Amino acid sequence: MPKTFFITTAIYYTNSPPHVGHAYEKVLADVIARYRRLKGEKVFFLTGVDQHGQKVQQSAARAGVPPAEFVKDITQKFIDLGKKLDVQYDEWAETTSDRHKKVVQGILQRLFDAGQIYKDKQAGYYSVRQEQFLTDKERGPDGEFGPEWGQVDFREEENYYFKLSQHRDWLLSYLDNRKDAVIPGFRQTELRNAVEKLIGDLCISRPKSRLDWGIELPFDKDFVTYVWFDALTNYISFADYDASHSSLNSQSSTFRDRWPALHIIGKDILVPAHGIYWLIMLHAIGFPDEAMPQLLVHGWWNLGGAKMSKSAGNIIDPFILAEKYGADALRYYLMSDIATGQDADFSEERLVERYNVDLANDLGNLLNRVITMINRYRDGGLSYVEKIAGILPFAVSIEQQIRSFKEEFEGGPPQYPNIEPFHVELGVRAARAISLRCNRFVDDVEPWKLAKSTLNTDVLRLNAALYALADTIRVLAILISPVVPQAAHGIFDQLNWKMELSGKEERFSLADAEWGKLPDGHVVGKPVPLFPRIEPDQI
Ligand code: MSP
Repeated sequence: MPKTFFITTAIYYTNSPPHVGHAYEKVLADVIARYRRLKGEKVFFLTGVDQHGQKVQQSAARAGVPPAEFVKDITQKFIDLGKKLDVQYDEWAETTSDRHKKVVQGILQRLFDAGQIYKDKQAGYYSVRQEQFLTDKERGPDGEFGPEWGQVDFREEENYYFKLSQHRDWLLSYLDNRKDAVIPGFRQTELRNAVEKLIGDLCISRPKSRLDWGIELPFDKDFVTYVWFDALTNYISFADYDASHSSLNSQSSTFRDRWPALHIIGKDILVPAHGIYWLIMLHAIGFPDEAMPQLLVHGWWNLGGAKMSKSAGNIIDPFILAEKYGADALRYYLMSDIATGQDADFSEERLVERYNVDLANDLGNLLNRVITMINRYRDGGLSYVEKIAGILPFAVSIEQQIRSFKEEFEGGPPQYPNIEPFHVELGVRAARAISLRCNRFVDDVEPWKLAKSTLNTDVLRLNAALYALADTIRVLAILISPVVPQAAHGIFDQLNWKMELSGKEERFSLADAEWGKLPDGHVVGKPVPLFPRIEPDQI
């Protein structure tokens, strides 16, 4: 039985509503998930929300509502975002759910019983405003704690600690043995450097007197766990992990079929959260090296070179963009104007430009002119052409584009280990090259001239050109369906193809992305503008 492909996003803090950075991560995961379904794989896509913690407790207090009520509202906004952007996930994680609590507590108890968790006293400088202990790293050049920390007091506090540093050497050897533990490779190097410097254990609790919006420690009811044991565990608790079994072999077949996962995360939560804490946590609870998850680390969308943040007041609202331009337009921009792993600057003007050039002009126009010509010159009917290569010189280049499209999603063949997978932006570019090639082909062949000729060779040439264009557009729709699913359906509908699966994802399959699937005599539908141009006054 082929295994399920398990993909996750981070889970999102529910102290403030989603912004375009969150939308990006969700769409990136959705595009990869859709691509794998396109290949015929079974996919389990998990995303959700991180509902506990200090930030939520503080925001709820400011809003004057209980935390449970506060998170409900924001949680709904994240659910709505998924719907608005056509993100099709299979499971939704909410860290306040009983199912999750049970796994978190089960794991903590096991580690406590195994002597991996101990109680200790911490004494040091504490920022009341930020509710955290400060280290020397937080001191300014003058040796003082800056005004951003507010009132700073000396405090003593007892807490529970996880023996993190005990596993440092294991983590180093794991990273040395697995070159694609983290993608892109430069992030793995960054992680390894951080692990080399790892000292000290991980504080995993807060006294309830200070924070009670969390999961209670099973072995001490005066404490809740904070923060990463709660958040990271979602990746297994919502995938059917049972904390009462320490061996992976004793887990349910559902869990074993899914695990390990590919975690899609931003660069800010690689070191130390996912790259150090999570991998060590899994190792400590009995996951063998070959069951370690892979980390795909993406960059950030900034605004004018600066980080987007609520406090800076420069948050871009994805709902407004999707409402204004449509889900496909936003998805396309987010997938094509950033290189996976790198940062990019968000610009609404760029979004509109890419929409007008790539989608309205190149793809939309191509579809429109081809469907119109087939209707005008052949009453909508196609004549099958067996071999494209001899008749149409662009066949070879299209096959190359399909191949490079696949490579960008899957990584290069073994002889090209430097082609890292998940470069969705290059996949999009390869698909776009096909529509550009087709448009050029129309201009070269000049079907409107052939249509006026009664010469037998011209009749055949026109048949061949129209068939080639229609069938290539069909392939193109399959390739771009993970990124712009609504448009892909629009194309299939206008081609009058697989109508029985209209609106369903199963309509698209990578196996169909090859020459000649439209049968002889196939009749296409009527042209409908796919991407109406956005005029400057609409921005
Ligand atoms: N709750 C933690 C993660 C727990 S995962 C077990 C958290 N939440 S978050 O809401 O702050 O961020 C969630 C994800 O959104 C992270 O992967 C983060 O990198 C990503 N992004 C936040 N802002 C972003 C941009 N401006 N651009 C791209 N991604 C961004 O951290």
